[in-house]
Amino acid sequence: MSNLLMQVEQSSGVSFAEIDFNRVIDQGAPRLFKGALNESEFVQSAKQSSKAAMNFLASFASDAPLVYYRAEANQAGRFFYNDELNGFNFKTGRYSFDEFCQSLEQENAFAAGDSIYVGSAELEQHFPGLIKRDNLGLPNQQFGSSTPLIGIWLGNKTTAVTHYDVSNNIAACMAGKRRFTLFPPDQIANLYPGPLEPTPGGQVVSMVDLNQPDHKRFVNFKTALAHAQVADLEPGDVLVYPAMWWHQVEAFDDFNVLINYWWNSSDAFIDDPMNTLLHGLLSLRDRPQHEKDAWRSVFDYYVFGEARQAREHLPEHTRGALNTFDALSARRHRAKLLNKFNR
Ligand code: FUM
Ligand code: FE
Repeated sequence: MSNLLMQVEQSSGVSFAEIDFNRVIDQGAPRLFKGALNESEFVQSAKQSSKAAMNFLASFASDAPLVYYRAEANQAGRFFYNDELNGFNFKTGRYSFDEFCQSLEQENAFAAGDSIYVGSAELEQHFPGLIKRDNLGLPNQQFGSSTPLIGIWLGNKTTAVTHYDVSNNIAACMAGKRRFTLFPPDQIANLYPGPLEPTPGGQVVSMVDLNQPDHKRFVNFKTALAHAQVADLEPGDVLVYPAMWWHQVEAFDDFNVLINYWWNSSDAFIDDPMNTLLHGLLSLRDRPQHEKDAWRSVFDYYVFGEARQAREHLPEHTRGALNTFDALSARRHRAKLLNKFNR
């Protein structure tokens, strides 16, 4: 399928330290930087063999247990719901890095072994010193007041099903091959989002199986595919994409490692819009359509339009929450809201 899809735009000859991450995000589309981390010692070990990459990582591993997902072979590495949608098709547990590697080697030795996946473990906590030794840090000035969260993703053949994250992402393939299939945020309806909760990994996922889509059940998925972009990553490749883009992530080898950086272009005191959405379901969705249309205009005016528009005709001292928030005014506003919720 992926051969027919549009490829993510690529650059080569740009090193990790030279990438202007904010520019990519401002341009509003994913971009793949081939070989940007080829100088990394970790990447070089992975280019030798999986075993060399494992040994390299092992030399940094702390005692902090890794939370893993484990699915039986018949699930083909796709961590999802069970058939009845009343639970998941995988189990979770905790491994030391050593136990994780041993389990991986055992399962990989079977023709049909389990799939094992560790998602988004905090890199410095689990492999302290690696960021510094391998120059995997990011220059702070690029990211304003928000510090990127650096995570590591480990596993054999796995699929993280299509979902979006609320942060911009820098995804660095360190070992094994990985494929990202990305969809712009406006394709949400054509991706048929699943339950709000529970979710397999903390985010709502698409109900469509990208590798064998049921086009009869998900008739508009074809439109999503027409807007999809694919990036195939090898060790050393770095993919950058904006918050809210839907993505499926497949890992193909016996040992795959991704290091990623999540960062927000907004300040840390800005609230999670998912809370706004959940409250919108309670406060808006079940009202008459004419009221909902009116509220859409109100939201466009106050929230989605130019912030200046709603305040510039008012004297400064009357603007209150119409002003851009800072840490203190955000805290006050939240306290006021909490009070209103306790009705
Ligand atoms: O497996 C992965 O690399 C997933 C990454 C993501 O969902 O952000
Ligand atoms: Fe994600």
